[in-house]
Amino acid sequence: MSVIAILGAQWGDESKGKLAHLLSKEADFCARFNGGTNAGHTVVAGGQEFKFHLLPSGSLWGGGKAVLGNGMVIDPFALVQELELLRKRGCDPKIHISEAAHLLLPYHRLSERLSGAEEEIGTTGRGIGPAYRDKAVRTGLRVGDLLFPAHFRQKLEQNLSRERKAWGESGELGRLDPRKLAGEILKLMEPLRERIVDTAQLLNRALDEGKRVIFEGAQGTLLDIDFGTYPFVTSSSTTIGGIGIGAGVSPKRLERITGVVKSYATRVGAGPFPTEEEGPVSDRLRRRGREFGTTTGRPRRCGWLDLAALRYAHMINGFTELALMKLDVLSGFPQLRVATTYRRAGEVLADFPPNVEALKECKPVYETLPGWEEEIGECRHFNELPSAAKAYIDFIEGQLGVPVSIISVGPGVEATIVRAPTLAENLRL
Ligand code: IMP
Repeated sequence: MSVIAILGAQWGDESKGKLAHLLSKEADFCARFNGGTNAGHTVVAGGQEFKFHLLPSGSLWGGGKAVLGNGMVIDPFALVQELELLRKRGCDPKIHISEAAHLLLPYHRLSERLSGAEEEIGTTGRGIGPAYRDKAVRTGLRVGDLLFPAHFRQKLEQNLSRERKAWGESGELGRLDPRKLAGEILKLMEPLRERIVDTAQLLNRALDEGKRVIFEGAQGTLLDIDFGTYPFVTSSSTTIGGIGIGAGVSPKRLERITGVVKSYATRVGAGPFPTEEEGPVSDRLRRRGREFGTTTGRPRRCGWLDLAALRYAHMINGFTELALMKLDVLSGFPQLRVATTYRRAGEVLADFPPNVEALKECKPVYETLPGWEEEIGECRHFNELPSAAKAYIDFIEGQLGVPVSIISVGPGVEATIVRAPTLAENLRL
């Protein structure tokens, strides 16, 4: 099995980075297809911690695996900085950047700040919304425009002046010098000129040749621009369709669709979160799970696992398997609560309602399962887990009807239990 989609099944931060890194070892390409520097994918390998925002987590293996697909919005300053950091740590990935990916420029960040989205939606403040806005209204600059400097300069000047008309000339927006900015970006990206390619061609050709490709989703299903809890979502397609849109690869070519599920739930930013807890449960999850944003450092909201939301994520994505992450964080809870469905106006709902107004009126219906005391970070086989942990996993599988094939029991890549024999071969664990 060699063409794998890794998709967040919740509100992001499900530890997709660890999984994408692991699965990329034997892959030819690891491709990002959505988002930008709002993502924060952490990989702990060889005793070192790496945080990726733009580069796919498979970049750590070096070589030419990293693909930045057309569905991304790329901040050139952040990209070069991330590459430099990686080089300093002894890894030099040869990246492939889609010529059709959009550029996220400093005025997008300023525009987002002025729009109030950081307060209202709790965005990461990286300019993601305004960059995708420019894409949708067809004024955006794309990576391929860098190959035509005169045209790039002229369009950047036009875009900045449009932004100033909307938000005024004062402050940082007024101080941005379009010619200087264009010159800086062209110079910065010059060494990467050769790396700007048609990544849809690259990936489809690779698939025709039977090569192995990992698609690394950013954010999660409930943050999808269409299927998430709108407007408390990001501006890209985080779900299965995002691979078609953001990488130019037909979903029919995918062999495995791995839903990445954190063993409990977290959300960062505003918006409904039915199983949210406050007090000791949330504090314990946040402390043990180190639930602080990789990108912004914000403390994450924490709560119990929500199977109603996961059933919805499975409906949208059609997961062929689940990877259950951070199971070790649950050790020490005497009991674990899991939402199996919701009740609204006295009625038990059959389906998850993604409409936020409806969601606000929903109360989770919980099932209580026994917890376990033992630390499980050293377990490497399913049978080594405490029986309550095995029962927790069985319960999830039974409720969702999808096998849990990977269980993560710690931040390091070695702290992983692989249940499917074919997968274990792929991973060479
Ligand atoms: P934006 O993507 O910066 O526009 O933020 C929109 C919403 O998505 C906010 O609630 C963010 O906190 C959330 N978000 C964006 N990226 C991530 C991520 O990588 N993990 C978790 N939440 C995210």
